[in-house]
Amino acid sequence: MTGYDQQCMVARRAVMRWSLAAAMGGVLPAGAALISVRRARSDGSGGSGIPTGAGRPDDAGLFVAPLRVPKVLRPAATRDGVDRYEIRQIPARQRMLPEVDTPIWGYDGVFPGPTIEARRGRRVVVTHRNELPVPTVVHLHGGVTPAESDGYPVDVVLPLGQTADRATADRARAGVAGLARGSRAYVYPNDQPAATLWYHDHRMGFTGPQVYRGLAGFYLLRDDIEDQLPLPRGDRDLPLMIVDRMFAEDGSLFYPARDPSMREPGVVRAYHHSGVLGDTILVNGVAWPFHEVDAALYRLRLLNASNARQYRLRLDPPGGLIQIGSDVGLLPRPVRHDELLITPGERYDVLVDFAEYPVGTRVVLRNTLEQGRLGQVMRFEVARRVRDEARVPDLLVPAEQGPAQPSTGRHQDRRFAFFIGPEGTLLPPMINQLPFDLARVDARPKLGSTEIWDITADPTHPVHLHMAHFRVISRDSQRPAAQDAGWKDTVFVPSGGVRVEVSFAGYRGRYLLHCHNLEHGDAGMMTNVEVG
Ligand code: C2O
Ligand code: CU
Ligand code: CU
Repeated sequence: MTGYDQQCMVARRAVMRWSLAAAMGGVLPAGAALISVRRARSDGSGGSGIPTGAGRPDDAGLFVAPLRVPKVLRPAATRDGVDRYEIRQIPARQRMLPEVDTPIWGYDGVFPGPTIEARRGRRVVVTHRNELPVPTVVHLHGGVTPAESDGYPVDVVLPLGQTADRATADRARAGVAGLARGSRAYVYPNDQPAATLWYHDHRMGFTGPQVYRGLAGFYLLRDDIEDQLPLPRGDRDLPLMIVDRMFAEDGSLFYPARDPSMREPGVVRAYHHSGVLGDTILVNGVAWPFHEVDAALYRLRLLNASNARQYRLRLDPPGGLIQIGSDVGLLPRPVRHDELLITPGERYDVLVDFAEYPVGTRVVLRNTLEQGRLGQVMRFEVARRVRDEARVPDLLVPAEQGPAQPSTGRHQDRRFAFFIGPEGTLLPPMINQLPFDLARVDARPKLGSTEIWDITADPTHPVHLHMAHFRVISRDSQRPAAQDAGWKDTVFVPSGGVRVEVSFAGYRGRYLLHCHNLEHGDAGMMTNVEVG
């Protein structure tokens, strides 16, 4: 038996032990037993229609805990047009399941991390101190960030007081910003339109497990254009980070790592192809929460921060998901959807009018890709009539807002094929038939240029580009889907492919193009784009 197989066995045994405990019941605190422990199908799909326990309605034990809203971080200093923040990356315990605490790694010890609120044109500097046992990297997803602050995967911050081993030091030399000991100050110019961005770990080979442990938070960028719109504010501007997780019997997060000591990257075979799928849905770190709302218009900033799971979101009873923003900014005008497919890394900024429901209505946010518990995300409870000044604007932002318009008539065309092959094969995931190589650059676009990229996927992948943003021109050789509207940084690529226009406004330097299925990225589905 190879070391690889042994690790698989060990991990499989851990999964079995914990699902057995669940089946027997009683081992877990009651609430946790109800919702937390369900074995993912061995094919890694997470499964639909998993039995939910004798005679229990599907949603027993769901919607018992209130939603938490991550607190907005206070700057440590605001001087000379710069907001300075300090974040400690620390181990902590947090209530995710009803009756048991879960050890996490959190920005300031919470998951999601504290929300950073930034203003367009106002610089933010975030100093991260690494008090975790592992090296970390922070990336601002969707940010137009200078390369030294973008969180290139080998630009690690070593744990406080630790020195680098040889391999880590060598790799960091091949990076962009090099190694940092204990802390690093990340600089964000915020020279881009208002949008829902997020920050998360991006360590080479370990992004999946480190995000899974809790290293993700919101970064809300606001601007004057948005301020002038009659959009919901305050408590009615609600960021919602959706993830799926597996829990072990003691309430700890279960990540099916090939090497549980986390010295070597990778996941056990069952998750190689699909990426890591959990059986428990959390919103803002709470399993299947409920949230009391006024009968009023709300802005929901939906973020799929899951490692690998996609959701097709729908309200039940039915109601409109009125999209006002894409990944990196507001749309020219709202687009109404009944359902929204959201793949890992994507954001959809939507308005929901809870005034359309009678007071007392319980509105479930569903995931129509699954049945049973995985088919439910959270529940809103319409509590009271109120006066509401907000409304759905007809027009949001000037159509030309966003990255620079095509600067010349000449477009460079490129092709990227994201390939992992059929389920069951254990090929490494690749882009244009090559695995990731720190030293290889696969595209050298010019700063200020616009390119046309044809991206294909086998079978499907959520494709993400750092720094530069894109617009979908066609999908499956057809017109883009309604939800492709606007500027994006992450696009779901089906096997039929997408064609995108990419605008290289921002900064020169080496940036990543990768699959945002975090296990695919960790296994090498990444490449370098050098903007020159
Ligand atoms: Cu959200 Cu390169 O990642
Ligand atoms: Cu990113
Ligand atoms: Cu992928």
